[in-house]
Amino acid sequence: MHDPVMEPMETTISAPHETEILDPRTDSPSVPADPVHISPVRLGPITVPTPVVLSPMAGVTNWPFRVLCEEYGPEGLYVAEMITARALVARNPKALRLCRFAPQERVRSLQLYGVNPSIVEQAARIVVDEHMADHVDLNFGCPVPKVTRRGGGSALPWKTDLFAEILRRVVKVCDAADIPVTAKIRVGIDHEHETFLEAGHIAQEEGCRAVTLHARTTAEYYGGHSDWSRIGELKSALDIPVFGNGDIWGAEDALAMIRQTGCDGVAIGRGCQGRPWLFANIRNAFEGRPERLNPNLGEVCDVIWRHAGLLTQFYDGDERMAVHDLRKHIAWYLKGFPVGGSTRKAFMECESLADVRREIDRLDPTVEYPERVIDKPRGRVRFAKKVHLPYGWLDSRVTTHEERETLFGDDPMDASY
Ligand SMILES: Cc1cc2nc3c(=O)[nH]c(=O)nc-3n(C[C@H](O)[C@H](O)[C@H](O)COP(=O)(O)O)c2cc1C
Repeated sequence: MHDPVMEPMETTISAPHETEILDPRTDSPSVPADPVHISPVRLGPITVPTPVVLSPMAGVTNWPFRVLCEEYGPEGLYVAEMITARALVARNPKALRLCRFAPQERVRSLQLYGVNPSIVEQAARIVVDEHMADHVDLNFGCPVPKVTRRGGGSALPWKTDLFAEILRRVVKVCDAADIPVTAKIRVGIDHEHETFLEAGHIAQEEGCRAVTLHARTTAEYYGGHSDWSRIGELKSALDIPVFGNGDIWGAEDALAMIRQTGCDGVAIGRGCQGRPWLFANIRNAFEGRPERLNPNLGEVCDVIWRHAGLLTQFYDGDERMAVHDLRKHIAWYLKGFPVGGSTRKAFMECESLADVRREIDRLDPTVEYPERVIDKPRGRVRFAKKVHLPYGWLDSRVTTHEERETLFGDDPMDASY
């Protein structure tokens, strides 16, 4: 618990008991292969014909990546990475860039993150007044210490008053423009401090059109396996649609999650890193077709090259920024391929499109997609070392005046606290 000598301004909890979640696909061998019922999901004025979501990922789901995923995938929701409300209100150029959409994006889904209800409301007002998006998701799932130690992301639903107030204020602003609001949550802070059922009810009462549950706690971070049974629990408890999230690595996982939990749709994060065609496989699976795309190295390089071009547009022609952004994607695209360390290093040192082209042209395009990485976990997979929270955060379910002062007092743009 809190150590006043070492860390006077925050509460930390360590997570020694959170490591034993079993993979729901392997610990229940008698899963019945019932037919999967998939229907369009309505989010107020928006209909999502195929309830598949590209889950927001900071540093990943900017419009170039979303466009690639959407081109392969069904008519789902492809959500932008989280935008800090404060940065949007301050009109930070980087935040504004993240709010951009490509003309071909069918639904412009934007995710906001914030702790201060007044600031999040101001950000929502900007989104509405400047016609920036068609759908607003609110981030209450982020487990990153720099976010939770300020009471944000997955720490926030613990404070039911703050959680409800943010939702209420954003829904009010967005409802007036017929823009649906959804919330993305985790199971809780840890298993002693679960919040998802209460958070789901609050989200429903405050007018959210759907909830997405990443079925891990903050303490679990990205380790172990998302506990899909919690998605089923939430689905049974709510009337609004529930999107299940966590550990969908292949199309069969998406079907299995819907079958096992009864959720209305699925949200996919890490599984599509370096594999935007996963959305084609999911579309095929949802339409009952057996085809699965697993492109060879030449086809993967075509995607890398296209991605490079789109990122160059995203960065207004700045190739260096584009290629720097692309580097992590290249590592994911090449995962499992027999590409040597020196070639990988050369990709990581690329500074221009010409550099990327040169390295692509050195690869053997006929190499088949590596069997051993098909539909297997990728990206972040570790547990939290500690959960960092504001000092005394777990002592009460509502915020005190002092807590609000501490959380928002240094906020120069905020008049209300
Ligand atoms: C690199 C990375 C960035 C992420 N950024 C966000 C974010 O901006 N907003 C959010 O709600 N979730 C974010 N997430 C969480 C994902 O949306 C998703 O909930 C999580 O990865 C679990 O789904 P998965 O098992 O399909 O990856 C991020 C995850 C990763 C790996």
